Amino acid sequence: MSTASLPANPDPSPGPNHVAIIMDGNGRWAKARGLPRVAGHRRGADAVRRVVRGAGELGIPVITLFAFSTENWTRPADEVSDLMGLLRHYLRSELEELRKNGARLRVIGNRDGLASDIVADIADAENMTRGNSRIDVNICINYGSRDEILRATRSLARQVAAGELDVDRIDANLFERELLTAGVPDPDLLIRTSGEQRISNFLLWQCAYSELVFVDTLWPDFGKDDLERAIAEFRRRERRYGGVGG
Ligand code: IPE
Ligand code: IPE
Ligand code: MG
Repeated sequence: MSTASLPANPDPSPGPNHVAIIMDGNGRWAKARGLPRVAGHRRGADAVRRVVRGAGELGIPVITLFAFSTENWTRPADEVSDLMGLLRHYLRSELEELRKNGARLRVIGNRDGLASDIVADIADAENMTRGNSRIDVNICINYGSRDEILRATRSLARQVAAGELDVDRIDANLFERELLTAGVPDPDLLIRTSGEQRISNFLLWQCAYSELVFVDTLWPDFGKDDLERAIAEFRRRERRYGGVGG
């Protein structure tokens, strides 16, 4: 039977299945109020709690949040230390909230660069939320997509050099299994807050066909209603994946 004779398949779920967010604008939020940058980061952590809860209520199965990039280490030492402190606090204080939301936490990034107590907190939080299945919450910490792609490439090259892998078997599926996001579906919708319109080394491979939505709201002000507006915008888009569309 030719596919042309099949009835159009109305997508049973309009999606998005996976929303990724570049949480930007904490510093500007604080500056606009004459406050130190750390005050913006603190309010940014409140926004994380709000948005994770909102995403669960909206029935979004997967949400991925960019919290700290491999390039963010170049910030002043005080700010890096404030961010790491907030991260520690979040990992310890949010477990109950994550549990209430039915959230399974996964931290994505290079753990080698993180303090050992944070690595331990991450492992605890992941273990304690492992059985939850309402929403997957991925938090990217010490994450950089170029670094991730280079590591995947080195790993595959090593397997080829050791004679364990035939070079012609390297395809998109095999490559994805080497990425830090192995097993996570690609984002359908990528949101960046604060008016900046760039990717900043986030999920370069994974966002190949994501719909991009840039909003002016600064991250500490972002809430469930902003998320709903971005989703409404996503649903107005026509995804074509290089085809001619409907
Ligand atoms: C996002 O806010 C948080 C991190 C990148 C850690 P910023 O700290 O980048 O805020 P702006 O861009 O300076 O306003
Ligand atoms: C991207 O924001 C990284 C995170 C949100 C964690 P940045 O504020 O670091 O990005 P640039 O420097 O404006 O590109
Ligand atoms: Mg920024």
